[in-house]
Amino acid sequence: MRKIAIIGMGYVGMTTALGLAKIGHSVIGVEINPDRIGSLRAGKLPIFEPGLDSELVDSIRSGRLQLTSSIEEAAADSKVFFICVPTPQDDNGAADLKYVIAVSEQIANWASPGSVIVVKSTVPVGTGEMLRNSIDRTDISFASNPEFLREGSALMDFMEPDRIVVGAENSEVAETILSLYDNIDAPKVSTSIISAELIKYAANAYLASRLSFVNDLAALCEQVGANVEDVVSGMGSDSRIGNRFLQPGPGWGGSCFPKDTRALVSVAKSHGVSLGIVGAAIESNDNAFSRVVARLKSLLGDELTGKNIAVWGLAFKANTDDTRDSPSLEIIKRLLSEGSRVNAFDPIATAPDWNGLTQVESAVTAASGADALLVLTEWSEFSEVDPKETAKVMNGSVVLDTRRILPVKEWSSEFDSFKILGSGS
Ligand code: NAD
Ligand code: UGA
Repeated sequence: MRKIAIIGMGYVGMTTALGLAKIGHSVIGVEINPDRIGSLRAGKLPIFEPGLDSELVDSIRSGRLQLTSSIEEAAADSKVFFICVPTPQDDNGAADLKYVIAVSEQIANWASPGSVIVVKSTVPVGTGEMLRNSIDRTDISFASNPEFLREGSALMDFMEPDRIVVGAENSEVAETILSLYDNIDAPKVSTSIISAELIKYAANAYLASRLSFVNDLAALCEQVGANVEDVVSGMGSDSRIGNRFLQPGPGWGGSCFPKDTRALVSVAKSHGVSLGIVGAAIESNDNAFSRVVARLKSLLGDELTGKNIAVWGLAFKANTDDTRDSPSLEIIKRLLSEGSRVNAFDPIATAPDWNGLTQVESAVTAASGADALLVLTEWSEFSEVDPKETAKVMNGSVVLDTRRILPVKEWSSEFDSFKILGSGS
C-alpha cells in the first residue's frame, strides 16, 4: 500500500498523520526538528493534546506510522504529500510562506509523476497558484485541504469534522483527496483552490469577530449592570445565531486567530478591499486585554505598582499547553509593565522567562501573599480549588474571574471583591 506523506509534525501534522492512520491509511511523517522526531519515534507526544498520545503508540505498533526527517525518503513510496508546516506572521502582518515554499520545492525535487501536493497549512488566497507557477513540474498537481481542528480537541475534530473542504485543480484530483476521507462521515465540500484557501481565513475571521462582539458586549454589561451570560444565552437561542462559540473571555488568542485575522486584512488590502469588520475585531481584542488590566487596577485602588498578582492559567485556552499569542501572557506583560509582580500557575503550560513573572507549582501557592487573583484560562480544575484555603493565604481580597469558571456563591462569600467578567456586580 502506498503511504501518505505528512510534512511537518506539529499540532496539525500530527493530528492528520495519526487521524489518517486511525482510519486505516499507511502514513509517513516528515519532521525536521530532531528533538521532536526523537520524541515521536520513542512513542512520546511532544505536545499536550488529549487522545493523540495513545494513537501515536498504536500507530507505531501497528506499523501504520513511519517517521523520517527526509522528504526524499518519504517520496520513494508516496504520491500524496500534505504540507503542514507553519505560516507565521511576517513584519507586515501578512503570512510568511517561506516554509511552505521550501517544502513544496523539495517535494517537487523528489515526487514521482502523478503526485499531488496538498496544502493543509493556512495560506493566503493565491498561494496554490503561486506554488504551481513557481514549480517546474506539470506532471504533479496541487490541492488545498484547509484544517479546522481546535487545539485541545484536535483528534475529535479530525474524526468528526463539521465538513471537509478540498480545493483542487480538477475533479480527478479532488476525488483522490476526498477519497482519503471515505471513512469519515462528514459533508464534503469541493471547490477551486482559491475558494478553499479563502474559506479557511473567512471561518477564522468570522469566529474571531463573533468573540470580539461578545467581549464588547460583556464590557457593556459591566457598565449597565446586566449579566453577559444571560444576554448571550438569550441571543444565541435564536437558531440563526446559535449558542456555540459565544463565551466571553479576556480576549481571544492562540496560534491562529491573531495571525489569520491580520493576514486576511493584509490580503484584502493588497486587492484594494477594506475588511473593516475584521480590522475592528482585532482592535476590539486589544481593548479586551486592556479592559482586564484596567478593571483589576481599579479594584486595587487604581494602583498596580508593587502589587503581587496571582494568575491562574497561562495557556491560550484550557486543554492545551500552547501559549502562542495567549491572552494570559498579553495581560501579564501589561501587568509587569505597570510594576506588578506575577506568580502564575498553569496545570500544563510553561511560563516565558520574564522579569517579575514566576511560575509556581499549584494554584494556592500562586495565591499565597497575593493582593489580587486573576483567572485567565478556563482550566476546569480551578473550579475545584477551595476558596476558603485561597482566602487564607492571600494578602488581599480581590478576585477577578475572566473565564466565569469559579463557583460564584462559594467565592463571593469568601472574598469582599469577587468579580466576574461581564457582570456589573
Ligand atoms: P506547529 O508549529 O505546531 O508545527 C509545524 C511543524 O512543522 C513543526 O514541528 C516544525 O518543526 C515542522 N517543520 C517546519 N519546516 C519543516 C520542514 N521543512 N520539513 C519538515 N517539518 C518542518 O504548527 P501547527 O500549529 O501545526 O500549524 C501548521 C499550519 O496549520 C499553520 O499554517 C497553521 O496556521 C495551520 N493550522 C493550525 C491549527 C492549530 O490549531 N494549531 C489549526 C488549523 C490550521
Ligand atoms: C481556532 C478555530 O476554532 C479552529 O477551527 C481553527 O482550525 C484553528 O483556530 C486554527 O486555524 O488554528 P483554536 O485556536 O485551537 O482553534 O482555539 P479556539 O477554541 O477557537 O479558541 C481561540 C480563542 O478564542 C481562545 O483564546 C479561546 O479562549 C477563545 N474563545 C473561544 C473564547 O473566548 N470564547 C469562546 O466561546 C470560544
